[in-house]
Amino acid sequence: MSEEVLDNNEEKIEKEVVIPEFYRDLKEDPESKGLWHYVFRTHGDRKPIATPDGLPHKIDFNWKDMFPQIGNDAHVEVEIGSGKGGFLSEYAPKHPDIVIMGSEWDYTWAKFAQRKMDKAGALANATMLRGDVYFFLRDCVKDNTVDAFHMYFPDPWPKERHHKNRLLRPDFLVEVARVLKPGKRIFYWGTDHKEYNEVALEVFDNFKGCKILERNTAEPTEGIMTGFEKKYRKEGRPIYRSVVEFEK
Ligand SMILES: C[S@@+](CC[C@H](N)C(=O)[O-])C[C@H]1O[C@@H](n2cnc3c(N)ncnc32)[C@H](O)[C@@H]1O
Repeated sequence: MSEEVLDNNEEKIEKEVVIPEFYRDLKEDPESKGLWHYVFRTHGDRKPIATPDGLPHKIDFNWKDMFPQIGNDAHVEVEIGSGKGGFLSEYAPKHPDIVIMGSEWDYTWAKFAQRKMDKAGALANATMLRGDVYFFLRDCVKDNTVDAFHMYFPDPWPKERHHKNRLLRPDFLVEVARVLKPGKRIFYWGTDHKEYNEVALEVFDNFKGCKILERNTAEPTEGIMTGFEKKYRKEGRPIYRSVVEFEK
């Protein structure tokens, strides 16, 4: 792979970009059906990291590679940050006519979720991506191929100096909007974190083509509460759920 860069004399030169193979693997776990690894990782790091050079490393990926049973017009949904896989384990079996990919960058939770989904019979039409879903969207998912997004109780990164780690950012929504199919599409959002919720709704409000259909008044999607939601409701915390429409 090569890219055009400008040297000091502003002449275009060809520079070789070397990408170690393991940085851009996307493959199904040979021992765990439905668990797909997409990992940017340096040795010794528990969690995957961003691409080491910050550049996109595109993979020629089609949803059919992950779901061989689907046709070209398949209905595809994505869950962002699935944790223990509670949502997918209930939602996927209720919708055998669609396919849905969960995502979780932490190996332990991704594996936990895959087992839970397996027990629930959800692996017939659902998979679990273990990796950073932002980079997966950016580098693997083709334009106009996703029907809906679910994002429930994302890590709030409460300290101000960590806010930059929050996933619900304008550049994340750029990727969401790019991969959503044309027409009106739904993004389901929920959190217990008041301040992150306000910031997120402002990001949606200011994003071109976004309209909040239900602002903080939505019920759990199809009555399915996620693992974190069950815990937080028991603790009596307020929950903020919204339904957002993207139109393009
Ligand atoms: C607070 S948990 C919520 C899990 C689940 N949605 C629920 O409501 O029970 C958020 C999860 O998102 C995962 N996560 C955070 N950033 C991610 C990213 N960029 N890609 C994939 N998973 C991510 C975290 O590892 C964590 O398990």
